[in-house]
Amino acid sequence: MTLIAPSVLAADFSRLGDEIADTVKAGADQLHLDIMDGHFVPNISYGPSVVKTVNSLTDLPLDVHLMLTNPEDFFEAFIKAGADAITFHIEVHPNPVSHLDKLHEMGVEAGLSLNPDKAVDLVLPYLEKCDRLLVMSVFPGFGGQKFIESTLTTIEKARTFIDRHGLKTVIAVDGGVDGTNATRVVVAGADILVMGSAFYRHDNRAGLVREVHALGRP
Ligand code: DX5
Ligand code: ZN
Repeated sequence: MTLIAPSVLAADFSRLGDEIADTVKAGADQLHLDIMDGHFVPNISYGPSVVKTVNSLTDLPLDVHLMLTNPEDFFEAFIKAGADAITFHIEVHPNPVSHLDKLHEMGVEAGLSLNPDKAVDLVLPYLEKCDRLLVMSVFPGFGGQKFIESTLTTIEKARTFIDRHGLKTVIAVDGGVDGTNATRVVVAGADILVMGSAFYRHDNRAGLVREVHALGRP
């Protein structure tokens, strides 16, 4: 079964409580929370206080995606706010081992992400330390962008490495994922689909969740 993690960035923040309740009701598996610093990415989103609010509204696991130049400075704040998994970018820590270990010591899942123009080889040596790999299928910074097809190869290569080495690392794919490409993303090797616009703009969110759940690799 493929899991779905709606990206709260695309929710209607004027009625966040209702949006989270509706996301839970639709059957989503986890929530994806995008943290942007205006430095690593050309946009600013929200911080620990919003994550804390979301955490107070649901028991769903919170997957916090740190698009920050200095993610480790905020590990504690986001864990206190309720993060269950924290993902940071290989671009800011090319040797991420100490930070991945730190997250595990702090009691949360650890993830690495890489941008669409980066070779997957950058993260492969560290996957045994990662609970999740977040493959970016758009350049991070904004929701609602178009899926970059070449990232399917990144997903395939990561899948092959994970399976060959018997790792437990799950692959999540983030950016422009929708009904037109979801099957191909899963066939390439994804376990979790992050969906922002495709989920929050869908007129049948529960139906979309059921469709994603029904996807599986052959
Ligand atoms: C992009 C973010 C994504 C984004 C996904 O910077 O990391 O998580 O919110 O939104 P969609 O699905 O609309 O591309
Ligand atoms: Zn994200």
